[in-house]
Amino acid sequence: MSAPLFLCVVGTRPEAIKMAPVIRALQQAPWARVRVLATAQHRDLLDQVLQTFGIVPDVDLDLMQPNQDLTALTARMLTTLDRVLQQEQPQAVIAQGDTTTVMVAALASFYRQIPFGHVEAGLRTGDLRNPFPEEMNRILAGHLAHWHFAPTPRARDNLLRENLDPARVHVTGNTVIDALHTVAASTMARPVNPGHRMILVTAHRRESFGAPLEQICQALLQLTETYPDVEILYPVHPNPNVRQTVAAWLGGRPRIQLCDPLDYVPFIAAMKAATLILTDSGGVQEEAPALAKPVLVLREETERPEAVEAGVAALVGTRREDIVQGVRRLLDSPEAYRDMARGSSPYGDGQAAQRIVTVLRNHFVPCS
Ligand code: UD1
Ligand code: UDP
Repeated sequence: MSAPLFLCVVGTRPEAIKMAPVIRALQQAPWARVRVLATAQHRDLLDQVLQTFGIVPDVDLDLMQPNQDLTALTARMLTTLDRVLQQEQPQAVIAQGDTTTVMVAALASFYRQIPFGHVEAGLRTGDLRNPFPEEMNRILAGHLAHWHFAPTPRARDNLLRENLDPARVHVTGNTVIDALHTVAASTMARPVNPGHRMILVTAHRRESFGAPLEQICQALLQLTETYPDVEILYPVHPNPNVRQTVAAWLGGRPRIQLCDPLDYVPFIAAMKAATLILTDSGGVQEEAPALAKPVLVLREETERPEAVEAGVAALVGTRREDIVQGVRRLLDSPEAYRDMARGSSPYGDGQAAQRIVTVLRNHFVPCS
C-alpha cells in the first residue's frame, strides 16, 4: 500500500505560520506524502509567510479579490476546492483555525468523505458575533472534523461539551509556539530610539471596523500626547476597511509609525523590542506571553482566556478610555509591568506538530 497523502490547506497569514510546523513534520515523516494547497484567500500576506518558511504550494487557487465579501469568497472556494479534492484524492485534509478557508476545507472534505484534521480546535468565546465570522467557522469546522487537535485542556473541554467524540480529541499545544521557536532565538530585537518605549499595535478584526477601530486610534493618539517617550509601531493589515480608518486617524502623527505588514521574522524582532503589545490578533495573543511581553487585547471577548487567567494578558476592549487606562497602568507602575512580563506560555512547548503527526501515524500505520 502506498503512503497516505495529506493535503495541507492554507489561506491566510496566520494559517501559514501555524501550519508550517505541521507541513514540515509531515514532510519529514517517511510513512507520509504531503501536498500543500494555498487557497490564497490572502495573497501578499500569505506569500510573505510561505517564503519565510520555505513552503512552495503544490496547488494555488489564487482566490483573493480586492475587498472580497464572505459569501462570494466561500462560494468560489467551495467549488474550486472540491475539484482539487477530486483530482488529488488525499487520504486526509489538514487545516488550522477559523477562517473561511478552514471552514470550506472542512465542508468540502466532509462532502467527499475525506477525514479532516482540525489544528487549533476547540477555541470558543460562546458569542457568535465575537469574533465574526470566526466563532461560527470554527464550530462548523469542529463538527465536520475527524481529528481535533486542541491546543489546551480548556479547548478540549469546549469540544467535549459539544458532545464530540473524546477519542478524537487530542491536546497537542499550539503550533504557533513551534513556529515561534524556529525563529525567536536567532532574532535580535528591532532597534528603538534611545530613551523611548515602543508600543507595538495590530488590529484587523471585522467586528472592530468603524467606531471601535476609531476608538483604538484615538487611544493611541492620546497615549503619544500624554507620554513624550512613547512611540507606536503599527503594521497595518491590508484590508481596506482597516487601512482607510488607520491612515485617516494616525497618518503623519508624531511618534506614530504606520507601516506595511512586516515579514514574520522582523515582526518577531518588533515584538521583542516592544515594551508592550496592543492587539486583536489571535496569534499575537499567543506569541506575546511566550516572549515575556505584556499584551492588552483590543476585544470585548477572547477565545484565549488562558493567558488572561495566568495574568500575562488583559482584555481591555475597544473603548478609548479603557485602552488608555490599561496602558497607563503598565507604563506608570513598574510592579504592574513586572507582574505581566513574567514570560509564561499556556499555549505550548514547541512540540505540537510532532504530537499531531504522531496521532496521524497511529491512525494510518498503527503497527509502526
Ligand atoms: C482573514 C480572516 C480572519 C483572520 C485574518 C488574518 C476570514 C473571514 N477572516 O481576515 O479570521 O484573522 O484573515 O489576517 O477568513 N488583503 C490584501 N492582501 C492580503 C490580504 C488581504 O489586499 O494579503 C485585503 C483584500 O482587499 C481582501 C481583504 O484584505 O479582500 C480582506 O481579506 P479577507 O481574507 O477576506 O479577510 P481578513 O480581514 O484579512
Ligand atoms: N504577524 C506578522 N507580521 C505582522 C503582523 C503579524 O508576521 O505585521 C504575525 C504574528 O506574529 C502572528 C500572525 O501574524 O503569528 C497573526 O496574524 P493575524 O493577526 O493576521 O491573524 P489572527 O492571528 O488574528 O488570525
